[in-house]
Amino acid sequence: DKVSKGDYEHYMLKEIFEQPSTIKNTLFSHLNTENSNIHFENLDELKEKLVKASRIIIVSCGTSWHAGIVGEYIIEELARIPVEVEYASEFRYRNPIITKDDIVMAISQSGETADTLAALRYSKAQGATTFCICNVFNSSMARECDFTAYTYAGAEIGVASTKAFTAQVAVVSLLAIQLGLERNEITQEKANSLVEEIKTLPSVVNHIFNIDDHIKSVAKNYTKTTSFLFLGRGINFPIALEGALKLKEISYIHAEGYPAAEMKHGPIAMIEESLPTVIIATNNEYYDKLVSNAQEVKARKGPIIAVVNEDDSEMIHTADFVFKVPRVSDMLQPIVSVIPLQLFSYHVAVLKGCNVDQPRNLAKSVTVE
Ligand code: G6P
Repeated sequence: DKVSKGDYEHYMLKEIFEQPSTIKNTLFSHLNTENSNIHFENLDELKEKLVKASRIIIVSCGTSWHAGIVGEYIIEELARIPVEVEYASEFRYRNPIITKDDIVMAISQSGETADTLAALRYSKAQGATTFCICNVFNSSMARECDFTAYTYAGAEIGVASTKAFTAQVAVVSLLAIQLGLERNEITQEKANSLVEEIKTLPSVVNHIFNIDDHIKSVAKNYTKTTSFLFLGRGINFPIALEGALKLKEISYIHAEGYPAAEMKHGPIAMIEESLPTVIIATNNEYYDKLVSNAQEVKARKGPIIAVVNEDDSEMIHTADFVFKVPRVSDMLQPIVSVIPLQLFSYHVAVLKGCNVDQPRNLAKSVTVE
């Protein structure tokens, strides 16, 4: 392997810990260092199309699909462009309605995933403008798309994606801010304050590593657990999906991510002492609702791990364990909330003796159907 693990036991751990620098590299590749203006190289020709797009359809797979859902929430909130997020594998075969005013945006670490590439090719043939957010220079998607915005996460070796995900979310956030500005949906002041806050994310993420030992000690309680529920709401909903996926991929523990309010439509029936629930409850408009979800879980003897902000006041009394993360604007919270979940799944998997870098049956890049 050309890329070394350095002092880390696994690539995945190294890649988790690299995130302050990979997020920084990604952000500063798209931010003018002098005035913090957002710029995407070579976007000029397409900018008009993007700004006037009637719809953005995001196609992707796996963890990149979760970045797509984060993108949906941020782009719709800041730029007010309707966004649809599709599994590339479904999209490509279901005769989707695509017009020339649509932007089809692929999100892919490798730029080679067969389904995502096929979805892009199909969209291009239908006359859509194609765009990709990709981590591999000159990959098939980057070559074939009308426009590529690169993430600068560096080579990701661990099969379970970590640093590529946060880099994808970083790019999508900058894009949403730029589109919001160009479409006059947000003020320059709002854009500036978000950009200033985004610039603090590398150090915010670094700060979260202080609770790594605590996360590891919590993980020790769950090596025999067979199933987990992950709940989140709003922009943290895709983080619940991603937390569950990380755990499944590397520890082989069944885990389901759910929008918290949907709990009452099914998962609540499963709650009991042996089914822990991970609730992402950072301080936002949904906080009180998540606290009541937690109380419903507790009333049924379900153990709770909660991801909360450092100034949390209520969840800490309901949850069995909390992972405290710094509070940032809601739109930027996913990059922060996902970090303890990456670490949690890593520690559970290592404690179980699983091969975290090369989990059974999974491939880093699925280039065949
Ligand atoms: C595989 C990998 C995942 C990844 C997904 C999409 O399933 O194991 O980590 O998220 O493919 O890959 P892409 O390269 O398109 O982001």
